[in-house]
Amino acid sequence: MYVCVCNAIRESDIRACVTDKGARTPMEVFRAMGASPQCRMCIPDIRRLVQDVLRETEALEQACALAHGGPADLDRLAS
Ligand code: FES
Repeated sequence: MYVCVCNAIRESDIRACVTDKGARTPMEVFRAMGASPQCRMCIPDIRRLVQDVLRETEALEQACALAHGGPADLDRLAS
């Protein structure tokens, strides 16, 4: 699903920008995608999605820490 129609940025692109490229703001997502905001209608949705991904990642890290009694090894779990 496209979140930013002007730049053809999909939800999966934004998730990858957060998890793989360290984007934490809508502008960092645009930069990571080599794009720039046009109409700016998508910015609240990108901000919300970035926060969702960060919350999901934190919850996963906490679950892994509880399960394994130590720091989460997300790379190992993702492979
Ligand atoms: S929809 Fe993202 S800049 Fe227009």
